[in-house]
Amino acid sequence: MDIELTINGERTTVEAGSADDLATVLRQHGYIGVKCGCDGGTCGASKVFVDGEVRMACGMAPREADGSEIRTVAALGTQDDLHPVQQAFVDNFAVQCGFCIPGMIIQAVALLDSNPDPSEREVREALSDNVCRCTGYQKPVEAVLDAAGRMRGEQSVAADGGQPASGPPQPGESAGCCGGGCDE
Ligand code: FES
Ligand code: FES
Repeated sequence: MDIELTINGERTTVEAGSADDLATVLRQHGYIGVKCGCDGGTCGASKVFVDGEVRMACGMAPREADGSEIRTVAALGTQDDLHPVQQAFVDNFAVQCGFCIPGMIIQAVALLDSNPDPSEREVREALSDNVCRCTGYQKPVEAVLDAAGRMRGEQSVAADGGQPASGPPQPGESAGCCGGGCDE
């Protein structure tokens, strides 16, 4: 079956098998920023914008998206000109394996579109169905709050402005939290 879509600004016709979901079809056509973590609509990795709404693409039949405008994480910015949310994730060291990050960034952009000055609790609630096994969520939450500030025209609150660490910790000095969910 052929489906007409506008994906990241380009009108295209994609072929979809009867058993395919939208995430599979997008990935088959090269939109690999759409991740498949659970295929059950519970991990958030496959989030995309469909006509401006955040949807888990793995839970959507391609037929349902026929005629829609899809935006994946790749449409938010370019390598040289990242979206402020993408840049804040980089600067705040909020990315570890990266698998959950496209879905998390899509959700964060949607949050900041509707609420430019969220509290930490509102950020945590917004990201609550984006499952991350690596970061412990602290760094992504900080990144979203930082992005919100940047988008309001405030200065970055990234701890070091995104600069590389100056060196390994000295004896007796804490390495600080890597965001990986340890107790430190
Ligand atoms: S793969 Fe779609 S929500 Fe997990
Ligand atoms: S960074 Fe690895 S799953 Fe989130």
